[in-house]
Formats: sequence, structure tokens, C-alpha cells
Amino acid sequence: MKALVLWGLKEPLVYQDFTDPILAGDEVIVELKAAALNRRDFYITRGMYPGIVFPAVLGSDGAGMYKDREVVLYPAADWGGDPACQSSAFKILGMPDHGCFARQIGIRYHYLFNKPAHLTMQQAAALPLAGLTAYRALFTRARLQPGEKVLVSGIGGGVALQAFQFAHALGCEVYVTSGDAGKIEKAKEMGAMGGANYRDEDFARQLKGMAGGFDVIIDSAGGEGFAKFLDVINPGGRIVVYGGTAGKIPNLSPQRLFWKQASILGSTMGTVEEFKKMLDFISEHRIVPVVDSVYKLEDGNQAIEKLGKGGQFGKIVLEIE
Ligand SMILES: NC(=O)c1ccc[n+]([C@@H]2O[C@H](COP(=O)([O-])OP(=O)(O)OC[C@H]3O[C@@H](n4cnc5c(N)ncnc54)[C@H](OP(=O)(O)O)[C@@H]3O)[C@@H](O)[C@H]2O)c1
Repeated sequence: MKALVLWGLKEPLVYQDFTDPILAGDEVIVELKAAALNRRDFYITRGMYPGIVFPAVLGSDGAGMYKDREVVLYPAADWGGDPACQSSAFKILGMPDHGCFARQIGIRYHYLFNKPAHLTMQQAAALPLAGLTAYRALFTRARLQPGEKVLVSGIGGGVALQAFQFAHALGCEVYVTSGDAGKIEKAKEMGAMGGANYRDEDFARQLKGMAGGFDVIIDSAGGEGFAKFLDVINPGGRIVVYGGTAGKIPNLSPQRLFWKQASILGSTMGTVEEFKKMLDFISEHRIVPVVDSVYKLEDGNQAIEKLGKGGQFGKIVLEIE
């Protein structure tokens, strides 16, 4: 089969003939029609990820055909029996196991789910990792309730945009941050109440002026700006962290945290049950994930380069013929 293969660190992916999937246990073959990129794929190609093995077929997000059934794939494996956290065997699809940047994938049958009927293959492929991460962060970890005020940081990110769509569909008042004024405007067009540029020294003050405060904050960055979330979190509020794009968190005031009775919660991807609930939520609210751009599988290096530059709004998708 044709696949995009990574043979070494900081090398381009090679579009080539590659070994067909070898099935074990209850694995089946899915003919992939679309895949999507995640920040993880970029980090792996740049050698910024632990435990990289070669050759690797990357890609955690995929949608395609199993026989005559349209399916979308759970983007991980072996969560384990505890819904509170993943087991030590947990792994994300696409390295070390071969992922979705290929014409076919061998995957366990119980990781296949029906594609939401209102989505195209490309839209469905944009969902799995980002949708699952956003769903668990908002609903399982933050226990988001309709009508709450929510701040989603870095709205250009795949998970962030999905979190925005979920919270908005639930009937929350959602505000955003971004490093790009144009992305804040796009979010407003989609229903965001307002936003501020996280590069502005006073972004938290701006947000406080607009919203008063937030019951829930969803963040992928950490870094210098994170401590300011304690200025805008409401008493009893929940801050969920699922990424560390901007690095370690300095200057966090323990006094502000405990006096506000606020919680800082970590979150990573989610269980098979959460994935199923996420797909049901998408179908119920007829949510369409935002696709920034579509590349052919063979042009995967251009897609990775675009992700690296960070100008996207929504998911970068690979079309697989
Ligand atoms: N724990 C998990 O399960 C999990 C799952 C998925 C991703 N992640 C991690 O979460 C992060 C985001 O992943 P993704 O795939 O959603 O990313 P992505 O689509 O590559 O987007 C990254 C976004 O981060 C935002 N950003 C950059 N610097 C920021 C800052 N200082 N403050 C706030 N936002 C900032 C940017 O938003 P603007 O463009 O709006 O400026 C950018 O678009 C990555 O670190 C990734 O490894 C973790």
C-alpha cells in the first residue's frame, strides 16, 4: 500500500509503497479516505517527542471504510480499566503503531465507530484526537454546565477550536485568546463573545473587562501567561491544562489559587466511552469541525510545514485516494 513514511529525525516524510498492515487478534483493515494532522505529528518529525521508532507511519486521526461501513477511528489504544487516568500501556495512534497517513490501517475492531452522518470523510477525520481531548477536558474534567462562562486559549489550535464549538453548542458564553487578531475575529463570527491577544501584557485585564470572570478556562499553553488566569477565574472555577506549548508556568500565586478555591486540572485525550459520547454530542448538535486546508496524502510534507508555521485556523487534513 502507499504510505507516508518517516525514516529518520528531521527528514521529510517519504510517500512510497510500504508493507500492508499485518493483522493480529481482532484487528481489521480500514481503507482510509482522510487523515488529519496534530501537533504531535509535527513534534515527532522534528525529534521533539519521546520514544520515536523508525520506520514510522504517523497520523492519529483517520476516517474511512470498513467493508461498506463509514467509520472514524479512536485515536489511541489500551487506555486501561480506570476512567480517571490511562494505563502505562496507553499509546496514541501513529507511532509506535502505524497510523493514518496511509491508504490502509490495521486496527482493533472495537476502535471503529460510525462516522457522524452529517460529516464528510474529511470533516470526520478532523475530529478524533482534538475532539476527544476537548470533550474530556470540558465535560469529564471541568464538568462544564450550560450557561457557564468559558475561556479557551489559543483558539487557532485544533483542540481549542473543538473545545470552543462544544462549549458554544452547550449554551455557554465563550471567550477566546489568540496571538492573531484575525483568528479572534473568526471565532467571534462563530459565536465567541469576545477575545484578547495573549501577547498583550494586559490580556487578562482586557478579558476581565469583557466577561467579568470565567467559570472554566481551557488552556494548551502554560508558560508566562498562565499565572494571569488566576486574575480572571471565578471563585470555585476550574482551569484545565492539556498542553504545554509555551513551557513551564512561573509566578503562580498559591494564595490566589486557594483563596479563590480554584482547581487546576490536567487532562489527556480520553477513553473509548468518552470518544463515543463525543461523537454522539457532535451528531446531536450537528457540529462541523473546522477544516483549515486539505492536502493530498502525497503532499504531506507541505501539510506538516504549514502546521509548523502555525497560521492555521482549524485542522489540516490529508485526502487519501
Ligand atoms: N494532553 C493531550 O491529550 C493533548 C492532545 C492534543 C494536543 N495536546 C497538546 O496541546 C497543544 C496544542 O495542540 P493542538 O494540536 O491543539 O495545537 P495546534 O493545532 O498545533 O495549535 C497550537 C496553538 O497554540 C496556540 N498558542 C501558541 N502559543 C500560545 C500561548 N502562549 N498561549 C496560548 N496559546 C498559544 C496557538 O494559538 P493561536 O494560533 O490562536 O495564537 C496555536 O494555534 C500541543 O502542545 C499539544 O502537544 C495535548
